[in-house]
Amino acid sequence: MRLLEDIVEKKRRKSVFKDRDAISIHFVPERLPFRERQLREILEEVSELALDKKANNLFLYGKIGTGKTAVAKKVLRELREFAEKNRLRISGKYINCKNYNTKYKVICRVAEEFYPSKRFFGFSSSYVFEKILDFLNKNGTKLVVVLDEIDKVKDVDDLLYKLTRANSDVEKGGIYVIGVSNNLLFKNRLNMQTKSSLCEREFVFPPYNAHELEKILLERVGLGFREGVVGGDVIRYISALAAQESGDARRALILLQKTGEVAEESSLHEITIDVVKNAKERMEVELISSMIATLPKQHKLVLYSISMLNIKGSGIKGISGEKRVLTSGEIYDYYRNLAKELSLNVVSLRQFKEYLNELNLYNLIETRASGAGFRGTTTLTSIAFNAFQIKEILDKEFFDF
Ligand SMILES: Nc1ncnc2c1ncn2[C@@H]1O[C@H](COP(=O)(O)OP(=O)(O)OP(=O)(O)O)[C@@H](O)[C@H]1O
Ligand SMILES: [Mg+2]
Repeated sequence: MRLLEDIVEKKRRKSVFKDRDAISIHFVPERLPFRERQLREILEEVSELALDKKANNLFLYGKIGTGKTAVAKKVLRELREFAEKNRLRISGKYINCKNYNTKYKVICRVAEEFYPSKRFFGFSSSYVFEKILDFLNKNGTKLVVVLDEIDKVKDVDDLLYKLTRANSDVEKGGIYVIGVSNNLLFKNRLNMQTKSSLCEREFVFPPYNAHELEKILLERVGLGFREGVVGGDVIRYISALAAQESGDARRALILLQKTGEVAEESSLHEITIDVVKNAKERMEVELISSMIATLPKQHKLVLYSISMLNIKGSGIKGISGEKRVLTSGEIYDYYRNLAKELSLNVVSLRQFKEYLNELNLYNLIETRASGAGFRGTTTLTSIAFNAFQIKEILDKEFFDF
């Protein structure tokens, strides 16, 4: 055996993972437990196209991580396979509107499906659309287009009007839309006409409960981890956490993935609940770091001041114990000294209060107005994350620690 091959093989054998990809959030597994009904009903609709009939436009909605994207992709996969096998002129296209967020961008993307060697960007919208209709007419092609995160499209009424009108402008073929959104208010934003054409049939994706998440994770563990690495207690623990927080399968999977990575780094062959706790803490640090990284410098100074005052035990004890409740006056004093020490601009008290407001909006702190009588009226502030973790992140920036 070659040396490199030998090394890779040894590492592979030591790894907790059997197939890392299977744990990734982008992987669409063959089976989607607790979504069989939605999958079946959507396929029932789409099957009309295979029988040369018209199908309804569909709208899938539900909170984040409830399997909408996974189901929509699975529908397209089945549709493509079926069409290919039976030589049907049906094609499926997945578009994530986060990246294609205008009518024009979506239409160009659809046109590229039919004319793969052409680039349409730069041509007028009506020209591009005519080309799509030409193709449908000439070939009798039926296109099923999934518009994922459809709420991100700025001129969504125009887009839907154009796409759904296509069916009356062509003799053969047609366009069928499957809209997907986690924004529960999105539908109300549509005008009556587009609303009724998009939502001919609706599918609701409810959050998963702990038991469902457990089953979903169990299947993914079977695909992604070596046997015996992840025990039932660990799966139950992660599922309970995710169910408690939101019922979001993505969050549960990310924690599972992170747990595997932590175990691997520490050369463990078995995963315990302590490893999960460790991974969860790291995830939170990463989350806070990414939130803090985007803050302007003055906001960071204010946040740093709040963390330091917490660590010093200033202010008064909060309800939950270790987090302190601080007045804006004491934070401002600390902030002012800190800014001077670092030779940075000191902003006015008024501006400073604006920063507190913004940090509150970013959920990094919680603020509320004190009732009269508590040292006059003031804003009471408490930190939303672990003060030591925030200090550690910001020390690097301000003091080069
Ligand atoms: N029933 C299920 N079985 C197996 N895996 C699932 C199931 N539901 C969701 N997942 C997995 O959980 C993750 C999140 O699901 P998905 O991306 O489909 O959520 P979503 O509803 O589209 O969320 P969002 O609104 O945030 O886009 C994906 O990695 C997906 O594979
Ligand atoms: Mg999605």
